[in-house]
Amino acid sequence: MITLRNVSKTYHLRGSRSRLPFASRRETPSRTIEALSNVDLHVPQGSIHGVIGLSGAGKSTLIRCVNLLERPSRGSVMVDGQEMTDLSATQLNQARHRIGMIFQHFNLLTTRNVFDNVALPLELMGLKRSAIRERVMPLLELTGLSDKTRQFPAQLSGGQKQRVAIARALASEPRVLLCDEATSALDPQTTGSILTLLRDINQKLGLTILLITHEMEVVKSICHRVSLISDGELVEEADVGDFFTAPRTRLGREFLNDFLQLEPPKALVERLEEEPGEHTHPVVRLAFSGDAVSTPLISRLARECGVDVSILQAKVESIQERTLGLMIAELLGPPEQTRRAIDYLESHDLNVEVLGHVQRDD
Ligand SMILES: Nc1ncnc2c1ncn2[C@@H]1O[C@H](COP(=O)(O)OP(=O)(O)O)[C@@H](O)[C@H]1O
Ligand SMILES: [Mg+2]
Repeated sequence: MITLRNVSKTYHLRGSRSRLPFASRRETPSRTIEALSNVDLHVPQGSIHGVIGLSGAGKSTLIRCVNLLERPSRGSVMVDGQEMTDLSATQLNQARHRIGMIFQHFNLLTTRNVFDNVALPLELMGLKRSAIRERVMPLLELTGLSDKTRQFPAQLSGGQKQRVAIARALASEPRVLLCDEATSALDPQTTGSILTLLRDINQKLGLTILLITHEMEVVKSICHRVSLISDGELVEEADVGDFFTAPRTRLGREFLNDFLQLEPPKALVERLEEEPGEHTHPVVRLAFSGDAVSTPLISRLARECGVDVSILQAKVESIQERTLGLMIAELLGPPEQTRRAIDYLESHDLNVEVLGHVQRDD
């Protein structure tokens, strides 16, 4: 439904001209910012795809390139079979009816009530008042706003404002919904209700959703697939279950660890050494999903590798239909046996990350 190929976007910041009367044309050199470089992304119809990254990574630029609010400097943007970069202004306007968008700060018109905000795109499309009403009322129902039709944005909570924005985005019956940090201004509970609404819409209307966020919780709650963006590049892409079990990049692991808040005790971190020694044992973070959760692997380690496991922290998370087990543990035993134990765990599909090594007390 959405396919980006080799999309790059460079911003040119023009240097400011000196205002001193006699200064010879001194200009600060113009700067360029490569906000996106060579982005490839495919979002199949009906799926919810998340793009996660730190602030300034290029997320907004990326999503704005999809409906050409930003024109890519290079590359191809296909939405619903149409090459967006080839369209004339009129065609682009038409195409945008098929692409709804919502924003962090809702972007409602404060002088219009709820009904009229949702009706706006339909008025611009030239629909008659009766046809508009027929379209708007079910959307207000769908978004839980039926009793708010005559209220103005200032009278609404953040969550309600975002519901209005969602209803408005759906008014032109889009096939794609773009969400730019749609829940970042909301508290956790309201975030949950908006995400549930987006998932409902995805399921009921078969709407394809591309959303960008800096929050793992958002990815975990509703996305099927996720891409990680860093300095304008997509550095990792995975099914959400895989990403939460075994992110492949350092940045991915940082996001995951931040989210899980599963860190070794501070006192232990201070004792961690990077390299193993003759008298050290490894501290590992284990992540396991699916079958491995129910397998008594830990007790088998003792039997098959002669290694004792001292569990420092453990928790279980549900990531969509999958169960994810997480554990921080010390593997106690001679170096050669603990190495075997790590191989053993990896061969049983556990994701093993060696956090460091601590001196043995004995
Ligand atoms: N209109 C613009 N003009 C110049 N630079 C911009 C513009 N929009 C974004 N940038 C720059 O591009 C980079 C990516 O920004 P953005 O896409 O907003 O990131 P994010 O949404 O991930 O925070 C940043 O360095 C930002 O300063
Ligand atoms: Mg942004």
